Amino acid sequence: MTLKEMKSLNLKRNERMEVDYIKGILQPTPTCAIWDKIWNFQAKPDDLLISTYPKAGTTWTQEIVDMIQNDGNIEKCQRAPTHLRFPFIEWRIPSLDCGLDQANAMPLPRTLKTHLPIQLLPPSFLEKGCKIIYVARNAKDNLVSYYHFQKMNAALPDPGTWEEYFEDFLDGKVCWGSWYDHVKGWWDAKDKYPILYLFYEDMKKHPKREIRKIMEFLGKNLDEDVLDKITHHTSFDIMKKNPMANYTTISNEILDQSIFPFMRKGAVGDWKNHFTVAQNEKFDEDYKKKMMNTSLTFCSNL
Ligand code: A3P
Repeated sequence: MTLKEMKSLNLKRNERMEVDYIKGILQPTPTCAIWDKIWNFQAKPDDLLISTYPKAGTTWTQEIVDMIQNDGNIEKCQRAPTHLRFPFIEWRIPSLDCGLDQANAMPLPRTLKTHLPIQLLPPSFLEKGCKIIYVARNAKDNLVSYYHFQKMNAALPDPGTWEEYFEDFLDGKVCWGSWYDHVKGWWDAKDKYPILYLFYEDMKKHPKREIRKIMEFLGKNLDEDVLDKITHHTSFDIMKKNPMANYTTISNEILDQSIFPFMRKGAVGDWKNHFTVAQNEKFDEDYKKKMMNTSLTFCSNL
């Protein structure tokens, strides 16, 4: 059932998912049902992990990493859509593979994706000393992006109204939990483990500089013209048109891009188009309390 059909039947997202379970379109096996398998996943020392809170620029980072690993060869990066190039370890969705099985079937070295908070990361990644790239995005834009994504993604719960979602985000009652705990948890771990901690806003402002950081972290050395090519190929406008990076290969029944495109705005400061004055005040006050014990700072405007 598509989101449009669901709307015409006046079914809520969660009711629709139940119907789809019964019809066998969705598998009734959420991540928690395979949690032991995820927790016990055996990472290999050469695995690279890209970790983010959802909507912080995962796909962008994946494309950059792939371009660096393939020395700027665009054709090689066109070999498959993002979700097939980078197993999403904790994700379970029927028409795609389970991320763990996909990872286990892949030749080494692998580049994997997770949205798990550090406390829930399968321990083998840290035990084996795997390199990890973590990307964080300012909370306000992250919230806005996540809300729009949940509107168009049938595999996630219905976000409800903007007002409801705003409160849920502040309370951490969204998939993958609290943004605040996520960014702080990974920040605290970054000096103990080989973690490159990046910011979406830096990537927007200085894309080539941040791409160079990633290149150095991966132990590669590419010429300036290759870095320029990677910067261009991974810009928002180019990625928006790239079917191997814009998720248009996923069926409309799961990601309905007629509601909102996956590559939506790709901007810093879009929150100003969504937050009311009262919401902004409430957000700032709550933010101060939740972020008072960390040295981590963000920029919400460019
Ligand atoms: P918006 O919804 O604000 O547009 P993720 O890959 O973690 O799901 O993050 C998706 C967000 O990153 C979306 O944000 C998307 O537009 C943005 N994004 C993807 N590629 C980008 C790029 N090359 N430059 C800037 N933003 C990008």
